Amino acid sequence: MSSDRDWFPGEAELDFIESVARPLPPVLRDLEIAAEPGGVPIVSRQSGRVLGALVADRSRVVEIGTAIGYSTLWMALGQPEGGRIVTIDPDASRTAVARDHWRRAGVPDAQITVVTAKALDALRGGEPALDGPFDLAFLDAVKQEYAAYLDELVPRLQPGALVVADNVLWSGRTAGSRPSRPGDGTAELRAFCAGVLGDERFRGTILPVGDGLLVAAYRP
Ligand SMILES: C[S@@+](CC[C@H](N)C(=O)[O-])C[C@H]1O[C@@H](n2cnc3c(N)ncnc32)[C@H](O)[C@@H]1O
Repeated sequence: MSSDRDWFPGEAELDFIESVARPLPPVLRDLEIAAEPGGVPIVSRQSGRVLGALVADRSRVVEIGTAIGYSTLWMALGQPEGGRIVTIDPDASRTAVARDHWRRAGVPDAQITVVTAKALDALRGGEPALDGPFDLAFLDAVKQEYAAYLDELVPRLQPGALVVADNVLWSGRTAGSRPSRPGDGTAELRAFCAGVLGDERFRGTILPVGDGLLVAAYRP
């Protein structure tokens, strides 16, 4: 016999969340549609809503992995007046689509700076936009590089900053409920999660939202 403890949210709960949430801004819906044909991977809508809430009092955000700017726009719309986001992606064709949609959503160009580069090159190369300090760092690019991104970012984090990382449950592969293959990033994601959540400088957990969202507060 199943008990309440066995229960897990499904479609009905997602529908309920959408029914009580603020209406989705049309440009975010447009980006969800734009992501579909080419299979551009973007955060789930619920992960976007979490990001939008987490940035409500965070003015200085760095994002690794812009794509067409869906997660960036959730954060830009959630930030306080005067907020700034620096977002890194080497794929300028994607970030051009992003900028077009941010403008259509009424986000001032000055709010979002795009760094067109591989993240580790940019972080190690002295790019001034990445000097920090940052109140929130969102990781959503190469899964095998998450730990290296964090190593580079920690010295630029304000005490109390949040580190958020997407895909840490990796469609069931991280926990082993679905099979993984060597080289698919699973081993690195397991090590990253254990490393951050076991690090005395962080207090965090993994939210089972979307593909798994690690959220950790930096308290050195
Ligand atoms: C999962 S997508 C980002 C999705 C986006 N955060 C969203 O939810 O709307 C990952 C992005 O990382 C970018 N990427 C790939 N290698 C990268 C690197 N070395 N540094 C930074 N970004 C990289 C890809 O071009 C891709 O657009």
